[in-house]
Amino acid sequence: IEVYAHELKAALHQYPNFPTKGILYEDFLPIFRSPDLFQKLIDAFKMHLQETFSESKIDYIIGLESRGFLFGPSIALALGVGFVPVRKAGKLPGELVRSVYQKEYGTDVFEMQREAIAANSNVVIIDDIIATGGSAAAAGDLVRQVGANVLEYDFVMELDFLKGREKLGAPLFTLLNAQKEALKH
Ligand code: PRP
Ligand code: MG
Repeated sequence: IEVYAHELKAALHQYPNFPTKGILYEDFLPIFRSPDLFQKLIDAFKMHLQETFSESKIDYIIGLESRGFLFGPSIALALGVGFVPVRKAGKLPGELVRSVYQKEYGTDVFEMQREAIAANSNVVIIDDIIATGGSAAAAGDLVRQVGANVLEYDFVMELDFLKGREKLGAPLFTLLNAQKEALKH
């Protein structure tokens, strides 16, 4: 995993002052342009999850709209488990569970289909990045609303200075320990 992580980290593209001045944005999209790197990203998560949860069965991978949709389904397929999307408000049909969370400006809403996950099942929540932890915590809330259990939160990257991990009631795994800091200017 370390070897893969090192190679994946080298593929990140840094954009200073995006989306706002003072932020160093690390773009992980170059990984998907290379089938070799994309495969390594999936293999690294697969290895980690198989190692960590050799006893307890993972029933579903939960991916968060929209960047969690880029690789969550591939991880699910690699593990041979189901994939369930958490979507932003108004996109899903049927009976839903909802959770409101704070964004930088105002609030946002995540939804999931109630029937998607059976009670007492075990899930892993996947997203590209944890910043304030608001999105991930809201997704965890949805899983708990349907009586299921969050085994772990898995991210590609963590903005650890925002302390988002403190909002999560389950263990966290970050593949690339890219520690992003605000630029000096
Ligand atoms: C970004 C990112 C995470 C979330 C992290 O998504 O992809 O999902 O923010 O922030 P937080 O930890 O402070 O909640 P965003 O909502 O910008 O949308 P996108 O995935 O659709 O690009
Ligand atoms: Mg997102």
